[in-house]
Amino acid sequence: MKEEDWVVAIPKLGPVIAIDGPAGTGKSTATRQLADALGFVHIDTGALYRAVALLSRKSPQIATQEEAEVAASLAGRVHLEFRRNPEKNPANRIFADGQDLTDQIRTPEVTMASSRISALPAVRAALLGLQRRLGCRGRAILEGRDIGTVIFPDADVKFFLSASVDERAKRRLIELEATGVDAPTFEEVKAQIVERDRGDSSRAVAPLKKAGDAIEVDTSQMTLDEVVQMMVQTVRKRLWQK
Ligand code: DC
Repeated sequence: MKEEDWVVAIPKLGPVIAIDGPAGTGKSTATRQLADALGFVHIDTGALYRAVALLSRKSPQIATQEEAEVAASLAGRVHLEFRRNPEKNPANRIFADGQDLTDQIRTPEVTMASSRISALPAVRAALLGLQRRLGCRGRAILEGRDIGTVIFPDADVKFFLSASVDERAKRRLIELEATGVDAPTFEEVKAQIVERDRGDSSRAVAPLKKAGDAIEVDTSQMTLDEVVQMMVQTVRKRLWQK
């Protein structure tokens, strides 16, 4: 049985929207706003990979074992879930074995580690069923790299967001500066983006690629509002005005 066939064996009970694309395309913010506009649940699948990466780095086993081995065994046993807490920002929190990791998963170290461990077939396999279960009740928007190709090949609407590397680096730098961390230079941010794209697109299992039936949106010259409006209209037309 192919991976895709196994996945769709968990039936989808309502509409699912897949949003894929590389970092810095405005994907996360646009997805959050689209979910709010439609009253859908937003599932940030990158947070799952980030949580596994963070826990691997913190694991005492990392002193004696390879990162790949630690991450693979951890991904198979940790209980990951999203819980909403409207009093916090972001409201959608990622928990691992009952512990809220949300505020720790966005550091540059975890970002690079999550890209590395997401290339491991054992890690992807461990997170595959979970992602399908999280979205299968419907009225869900899943955001990631392989949602339209692997996790929900049967998604009702698929978007693939793209933007030029320079534009993405510019946006990432603004984001980093806003968080108050010691901001790197534009060239450093750009080099990191190129490195992460290379890793995400060239891995053997579920590489970042546009699904054949996904709508590509180049956000380089678009405002966030324009991206969200375009997606809201497309979804409404596809789902409710057939
Ligand atoms: O979207 P993000 O930057 O939070 O994702 C972190 C890493 O996880 C990214 O380098 C690629 C990986 N990822 C993935 O391989 N598949 C997904 N569905 C989501 C994220």
